[in-house]
Amino acid sequence: MAEARRIDGKAVAATIIDRVKAQAQTLSSEAGVTPGLAVVIVGSDPASQIYVSSKAKMAAECGFHSEKFELPEDTSEAALLAEVARLNADPRIHGILVQLPLPVQIDEAKVIQAIDAAKDVDGFHLVNVGLLSTGAVDEAFVPCTPAGSMLLIRSVLGDDLSGKTAVVVGRSNIVGKPMAQLLLSANATVTIAHSRTRDLAAVCRSADILVAAVGRPQMITGDYVKDGAVVIDVGINRIAAPEKGLREDGSAKTRLVGDVHFASAAEKAAAITPVPGGVGPMTIAMLMANTLVAACRAAGREPPRF
Ligand code: GUN
Repeated sequence: MAEARRIDGKAVAATIIDRVKAQAQTLSSEAGVTPGLAVVIVGSDPASQIYVSSKAKMAAECGFHSEKFELPEDTSEAALLAEVARLNADPRIHGILVQLPLPVQIDEAKVIQAIDAAKDVDGFHLVNVGLLSTGAVDEAFVPCTPAGSMLLIRSVLGDDLSGKTAVVVGRSNIVGKPMAQLLLSANATVTIAHSRTRDLAAVCRSADILVAAVGRPQMITGDYVKDGAVVIDVGINRIAAPEKGLREDGSAKTRLVGDVHFASAAEKAAAITPVPGGVGPMTIAMLMANTLVAACRAAGREPPRF
């Protein structure tokens, strides 16, 4: 195979953001509603802090009302539930995102189910999970990472995946399961593989569309990829990069890699997402899209489709 086409997630995300900005302006001028997003983080995990800050910043850039709440690591479940209840009742807020994972004293499922399903822009509430899994894709809030991955797949293969085989590696509620549902809704023949799958490489080699969401750096090598496949790498892993030299404290510098070994997979694939610059920018763009949709619905207007 010739070297794969590199799927430019940054460019696709930028087109989504442009549409969101324009539609937010229209909603504001015609209905007097400014989309509002609240992001809540509990504790000080540095990676989560970066994600949450970039979400809040992008919301402001889209012209949204953007609020960020940073609660201490020892926040009680009751205090977080009270914050969620307050945001549920706040008419300026259309989307609520509570960054996961949460500290051990807080039951994540309880917090997710406490968010008003109409403001659940993460798509984690059981109502939204149920809508997606019954095929009501246009009514559900779809989790942002699989929604963004799906747009990248559609940018290569079009909207109808009839006759295509798709393998999703990973079975998380945030990525693997909703990804499989989206592929199924687009008529692909879908397999969910995971760490207990026998001969994972052979299963992956059957895929016209291969989505890697395993959380293990560069695990999916070229041996896992069928000639001509479309490969979507959901992983974001920080690994030591001694070739970049040392930090002041003597530790090695780091770099981001995906769950796919890019160089070997790109020799087989027809199209592949890089890390960084693939799925990552799409996740945040879809969060903005979901927030806009929530605001349109709250204003009684037909939301755009992405
Ligand atoms: N932690 C990692 N990914 C996500 C996400 O998409 N949403 C939330 N709320 N937390 C996350």
